[in-house]
Amino acid sequence: MSQTTQTAGDGTAETVTLIDNRTGKKIDLPILKGSTGPDVIDIRKLYGATGCFTYDPGFTSTASCDSAITYIDGDEGVLLHRGYPIDQLAESSDFMEVCYLLLHGELPNAAQKTEFEATITRHTMVHEQLTQFYRGFRRDAHPMAVMCGVVGALSAFYHDSTDINDPKQRMIASHRLIAKLPTIAAMAYKYSVGQPFMYPRNDLGYAENFLYMTFGVPCEPYKVNPVIAKAMDKIFILHADHEQNASTSTVRLAGSSGANPFACIAAGIASLWGPAHGGANEAVLKMLEEIKTVDRIPEFINRAKDKNDNFRLMGFGHRVYKNYDPRAKVMQQTCKEVLAELGIKDDPLLDIAVELERIALSDPYFIEKKLYPNVDFYSGIILKAIGFPTSMFTVLFALARTVGWISQWKEMIEDPGQKIGRPRQLYMGQTPRDYVPVEKRG
Ligand code: CMC
Repeated sequence: MSQTTQTAGDGTAETVTLIDNRTGKKIDLPILKGSTGPDVIDIRKLYGATGCFTYDPGFTSTASCDSAITYIDGDEGVLLHRGYPIDQLAESSDFMEVCYLLLHGELPNAAQKTEFEATITRHTMVHEQLTQFYRGFRRDAHPMAVMCGVVGALSAFYHDSTDINDPKQRMIASHRLIAKLPTIAAMAYKYSVGQPFMYPRNDLGYAENFLYMTFGVPCEPYKVNPVIAKAMDKIFILHADHEQNASTSTVRLAGSSGANPFACIAAGIASLWGPAHGGANEAVLKMLEEIKTVDRIPEFINRAKDKNDNFRLMGFGHRVYKNYDPRAKVMQQTCKEVLAELGIKDDPLLDIAVELERIALSDPYFIEKKLYPNVDFYSGIILKAIGFPTSMFTVLFALARTVGWISQWKEMIEDPGQKIGRPRQLYMGQTPRDYVPVEKRG
C-alpha cells in the first residue's frame, strides 16, 4: 500500500524510541509516512517487545488501517476523495461519477461513465420476494430498523455475489448495493405511509429515480423537479464517504472476519443510526423544533455548556474537524437554493438554525472547543423542505454512504496484509477465584 517507513536526511529509517522505565529497555518503533497527513508510529511489534498493549478507547490517536480513498485535514477543514476536494466534486461532478471514483480510484472517462451508469441502472430492482420482508414490520417501525433488516437480508437473495474471494463477485455485490439502496430506502418510506411500492424507472438518473420511487404514486404521473433532483444528488455526494468513522470502521471490522458484503453494510447501517453519528441529522431537526423560537436559543446554548446537563447542540462538533466542516458550507448553500426553488421564503427552522450558528460561533465555549457546524446541521432543513419525514433523514445518509462503505470494504479485502480486526483490552474485572455453590453464596 502507500505507506513507507520515513527516512531521515542520511537515509536511515526514522523511528520513535520508547524507554520502558520498568526495565530501562529501549525500543525503536518505525515511523510510517503516508502521502500526506500526520505520520504514524508503527506499534505492531510493541507487545512482543514490552508485553504491553496500547490504550486508546475511541481510537482518538490510532490509525486502524491504511487507505487511499479519503483524506481529511480536520484543522484546515479539508476533505478529499481520491485527491479531489469535496467542494469541487459537489459543484462540478455527479453522484454516479463520485461512486466510480471511490470504487475505482479515478474519475471515469465518458465511455466508462456511460457503462457504469448502465450497470448500476440494470441492478435497481430488488428480488420480488424481498418485498415480503417489509410486511413483517409494523407500519410505525423506524425506517432505519427496516433498513438494517432488509439490507442484511440481501445476502439471502444474492448468493452469486457473496464469495468475497472472487473479485468479480465483489464488484457485482458493490454494484448491487449502490443500485438497490435507493429502491430499498424508498420502499421503507412507502411502507411507513401505506402506499404501494414503486418499481424503479431506469430512464431516470440516480437521484431522480429515488425521488420518483419515494414521492410518486401509481395513479398519476410524477414529474421530478430538476432543481430538487440536483440538490438530492449533491446531498448524496456530500455523504458518500468520510474515511474511518464509526460506521465505516464497523463495516471494515465486520468484513475482516470474512463476512459477506451485504451483512457488512447492514452492520454499518446499524452503527450509523446513533445520534452521535448519522442519526444527528434527525436529532438536529428535533432540536430546532424544540427550540421553537429564536429568543429561546440562549437557553439551549446554556444547556449545551452545562456539564450537569447531557444536552448537546446537535449538528455541532466533530471528532476530526476542528474547523468548519467543508460539507456544511456546501449544505448551507444547497439549503438556500432548495428553499428558494420551493418558494419557502420564511422558514422558522432555518431562521433558528442561522441564528443558532451565529451565536454558537461567537460563544467562547464553542470557540475554545472548536465546535463548528457539521454536515448534519443544514441537511435536515433541506430534506424536510423536500418532503421527507425526519425518520427518513438517516436512511438517506445510509443510502449515500453505501458507496463509501463498500469501497472501504473492497480496499480492505484486496489488501494482502489484511487481518481479522481484534482489539485488545485493559482488563479491570475479577482475578481468578473459586466457584461457590449457590447454597453457600451470601
Ligand atoms: N454541544 C456541546 N458541547 C459539545 C458538543 C456539542 N455538540 N460536541 C462536543 N462538545 C464538548 C464536549 O462536552 C467536550 O467537552 P469537555 O472537553 O469539556 O469534556 C468537548 O466538546 C469534546 O467533545 P467530545 O465528546 O470529547 O468529542 P468527540 O470527538 O468524542 O465527539 C461528536 C464528537 C461529533 C460525537 C460530538 O461533537 C457530538 O456529540 N456532536 C453532536 C452530535 C453530532 O452532530 N454528530 C454528527 C457528527 S458529523 C456526521 C457524522 O459523523 O455522522
